[in-house]
Amino acid sequence: MKIAVLPGDGIGPEIVTEAVHVLNALGEQFTLEEAPVGGAGYEAHGHPLPDSTLSLAKDADAILFGAVGDWKYDTLERALRPEQAILGLRKHLQLFANFRPAILYKELAGASSLKPEIVSGLDILIVRELNGDIYFGQPRGVRAAPDGPFAGAREGFDTMRYSVPEVERIGHVAFQAAQKRNRKLTSVDKSNVLETSQLWRDTMIEVSKQYPDVELSHMYVDNAAMQLVKAPKAFDVVVTGNMFGDILSDQAAMLTGSIGMLPSASLDKNNKGLYEPSHGSAPDIAGKGIANPLATILSAAMMLRYSLGKPEQADRVEAAVKTVLAQGLRTADIWEAGTRKVSTREMGAAVVAAL
Ligand code: IPM
Ligand code: MG
Repeated sequence: MKIAVLPGDGIGPEIVTEAVHVLNALGEQFTLEEAPVGGAGYEAHGHPLPDSTLSLAKDADAILFGAVGDWKYDTLERALRPEQAILGLRKHLQLFANFRPAILYKELAGASSLKPEIVSGLDILIVRELNGDIYFGQPRGVRAAPDGPFAGAREGFDTMRYSVPEVERIGHVAFQAAQKRNRKLTSVDKSNVLETSQLWRDTMIEVSKQYPDVELSHMYVDNAAMQLVKAPKAFDVVVTGNMFGDILSDQAAMLTGSIGMLPSASLDKNNKGLYEPSHGSAPDIAGKGIANPLATILSAAMMLRYSLGKPEQADRVEAAVKTVLAQGLRTADIWEAGTRKVSTREMGAAVVAAL
C-alpha cells in the first residue's frame, strides 16, 4: 500500500515526521513517498499543488498531510496561496466527506476553557461537506455593483450552492456514521434565511427515510454555535455544509482545549482519504520542536482504519497515545502543572515506545 506524505509548511514537517515514525513502527509493508505542498510546493515548483504532487496523491491509497500556510505567502495572488493546495486536493480527488471528531481525553479535562462538568466525556463527530458550497460556487469575483444603493461601487461576491445529489451523498455518509455511534444526527443549516439551506434540510429529511434507526434533528447554525458551548454533550453526529462546518469544527475542537489533539479524515466515495490534523501550520512555533504531533499521529490512526483496512493497527496507535498521556507526557500546548513537558520529538518517540 502506498501512502503519499505531504508535510507542507510551518510545523507540518515536524509533526508529519513523528507520524511517519509511528507508521514505520507498525511492522506493515507500507511504501511512503513524500512531495512538497503549499508554500513548500510554491518554492519547489512555483505552485502550491505541483502536478507531480497531485499525481502522487492520485496514485496513492491514502495521503498523510501536515499543514500549509505562512504569512509570507499572504500577498501572493489567490491561486498561488498555500491554502489552494488543500482546496485543490479536496476538489481534484473528490474528497467530499470530512470527519472531524472532537473528543476530550480524560487526562486533558483541565485543558478545556469550559467547566469540566460541561465537557468531560465529550465525544462528538462533525461531518462536514467539503466539495461544494460557497467555497467553490460560481460565479464569484469582484465587480462594479450592478444595482442597489451602492450601484457602481466595487463589490465582492460569492455563490452558495448545493445540489440535491451532493447533499444526499454527504447525508448518507453522516447517517451511516451515526448508525455506528449513538444514532443521533443533527443537521445544521440556515434555512430560515437561505434557499440553499432549505434544499439541504428538505434533502436530509428525504434521506432520513432510509435510516429509521437514526434520530434526525435540525438546528440553525447560529443556535448550533450557542449549543456547542452550552451543552456540547447533547450532540452525537453533526452534519453540515462546507462553510458552516469550517467554523463549527474549529469551535468544537477548542471545547477539548487542545486543537493539537484532533485528527481529521477527508474521504471520497471509495474511502480513499486525506488525513490531516485539524490545526494549521502555526508558523510562529515552526522549527522550535514544541508542536504537538498527536493530532497527526491520530490522523494516521484514522488512515489505518478508513483507507488502509487495518483497524487493529488503528486501535494500537490510539491506545499508545492514551498510554503516553497517562504517563503524564505533555507538549507545551497541553502542559499543566504536575505533568512532564516534552518536545515534538520526545512525544513521537514515546508513542513509538508505547507501541
Ligand atoms: C480547514 C481550513 C481550510 C478550510 C483552509 C486552510 C482552506 O480552515 O481545513 O478547516 O477553510 O477548509
Ligand atoms: Mg478551518
